[in-house]
Amino acid sequence: MTDPLMLPLSDATQVYLVGAGPGDVELLTVKAYKVIQKAEVVLYDRLVSPEIMALISDDVEKVYVGKARADHAVEQSQISQLLVDYANQGKKTIRLKGGDPFIFGRGGEELELLAQHNINFEVIPGITAASGCSAYSGIPLTHRDYSQSVRFITGHLKSGHVNLNWKELALDQQTLVFYMGLAGILDIAEHLIKYGRNPNTPVGIIEKGTTKEQQIYITTLNEIAELVKKEQVSPPTIIIIGEVVGLHEKLKWT
Ligand SMILES: C[S@@+](CC[C@H](N)C(=O)[O-])C[C@H]1O[C@@H](n2cnc3c(N)ncnc32)[C@H](O)[C@@H]1O
Repeated sequence: MTDPLMLPLSDATQVYLVGAGPGDVELLTVKAYKVIQKAEVVLYDRLVSPEIMALISDDVEKVYVGKARADHAVEQSQISQLLVDYANQGKKTIRLKGGDPFIFGRGGEELELLAQHNINFEVIPGITAASGCSAYSGIPLTHRDYSQSVRFITGHLKSGHVNLNWKELALDQQTLVFYMGLAGILDIAEHLIKYGRNPNTPVGIIEKGTTKEQQIYITTLNEIAELVKKEQVSPPTIIIIGEVVGLHEKLKWT
């Protein structure tokens, strides 16, 4: 069988949009690993782990374009323009993002400008934070007995308010996974209870999932406020809400 690391990359591709996964360096895909070895320029985000950045050789130009919640280090339009500029200089350009570039990663927006400029690109998916945190906390996102669907939701909305279809989200037998939800966690819990979700529904908060600093907090919707007051929970976090969280005790392995 051919070793996938030996397969050549396409010469035509000018820009690779690459998912770096949630943190653990071993969760990088084989293709992502190959591509970052061939890079001439890497534009990377705040959530790409230092271990993954260490795989990129010193002579590669590394451009930090990360954004914290309220601190927009480089505007989105500038990032897209940088990708176009580097590609037009003939450099193999990698846009490296935490998790998967098409899940709350604005990957689509960045590709639009490349498409407008007829620049050839490829998208390499990554393990999204929800999957990484689910696996590393022993919380399956679906389970035949407890949850028949799962929703990935952003807890950080443009207006600053968490404004979602709470009636639908409060239905049981489904797992809710909130990205960027820590700042709005009390609001989220309050709305779910108000619209009918059982206040004893278990909640798992996974901080820095899959990394050496991973922390797991288990609580319930009506006890979140207490937990947040007591513990120093800090981002990035994935919040998993649903009966499946109850499996953590039995299935934890990290
Ligand atoms: C802008 S979104 C990017 C999501 C990314 N594209 C993905 O697929 O995972 C950033 C949010 O992802 C979540 N996140 C990313 N990495 C994480 C990690 N290692 N542990 C917990 N949450 C993480 C947090 O909710 C964080 O605020």
